[in-house]
Amino acid sequence: MKGCILAIESSCDETSAAIMINREVKSNLIANQTIHADYGGVVPELASREHQKNILPVVDQALKKAKVSIDELEAIAYTKGPGLLGSLLVGSSFAKGIALSRNLPLIEVNHMKAHILAHFIKDENKEPELPFLCLTVSGGHTQIVKVKSQLDMEVLGETLDDAAGEAFDKAAKMMNLPYPGGPLIDELAKKGNEDRFKFKVGEMEGYNFSFSGLKTGILYFLRDEVKKDPDFIEKNKADLCASIQKSIVDALMLKLNKAVKDTGITHLALAGGVSANSKLRAAFTELEEKACTCYIPKFEYCTDNAAMIAIAAHYLIESGEIAKQASAPEPRMKI
Ligand code: KG4
Ligand code: ZN
Repeated sequence: MKGCILAIESSCDETSAAIMINREVKSNLIANQTIHADYGGVVPELASREHQKNILPVVDQALKKAKVSIDELEAIAYTKGPGLLGSLLVGSSFAKGIALSRNLPLIEVNHMKAHILAHFIKDENKEPELPFLCLTVSGGHTQIVKVKSQLDMEVLGETLDDAAGEAFDKAAKMMNLPYPGGPLIDELAKKGNEDRFKFKVGEMEGYNFSFSGLKTGILYFLRDEVKKDPDFIEKNKADLCASIQKSIVDALMLKLNKAVKDTGITHLALAGGVSANSKLRAAFTELEEKACTCYIPKFEYCTDNAAMIAIAAHYLIESGEIAKQASAPEPRMKI
């Protein structure tokens, strides 16, 4: 077996298909859904309809780009969860259909494990040494995971409410920035003073996080300031962005530092869309000064993509974990 995998990712608002052979990405196509920008966040029903429109052309292009015919496929992988049920159903039904019609093994993948396993895609610069700690930060999740092997992972802590990416996006929305606001806050923050405003992030036990208090704090602060000066947000946008970004990144780094100290694990990885954030990347790589080895995947493998589903499937196939046709999406699937 050459190990030619077709992987499909459809957990949120990206329809993605990838072809992987022996841990090497042959193609990784992503159709973004711009429709949600008008609503300030992902609308689940619209997301699943967009997936239905996109899935066939995305898979078709992934095969063409990889110069692989459908007859050469040896396994079909899909995201089982966590994610939006309607979105997951589109990817899983499509994957099951191909697997059934071509009599191919079906592999079900945990999206959060896949974000972490993106570090093992062959064209990554260096693979993390096991065991390592992974800070996974996306629009839907925030976790610190102890990775003992590609198949054995333990969540040390996670957010009890909003994810870090959600905190960025909701704060951006309050400042009238379009969705997704995370990258815009990052950009605007570059010209701002991060010590100008203080926004408190809730303190949680252990390695857990909470960002909902920060969201309310920003909302009330802006409401009060705008009452005094209607142009407050416009006049102070860069300083607001820098100060909000600092609060979120400091909260993430505080818990990561604690986990490093407590576990003694010095190999550290970042994963998920928020790892594109420039302040988080800088703070994370500063840990190298504390004798840690830091790994950040290429940007294209940080945000939701099917190549990460394919690499996770690669390890599941190696261990013989084949799914049944009766397998169903699990919106709240745990690591
Ligand atoms: O992993 P991802 O693509 O999708 C989810 O699984 O959620 O992450 C998307 C999240 C969004 O919340 C987006 O605003 C955030 O990642 N994000 C950023 C940056 N780039 C993407 N947040 C802060 N700074 C960035 N540069
Ligand atoms: Zn994700």
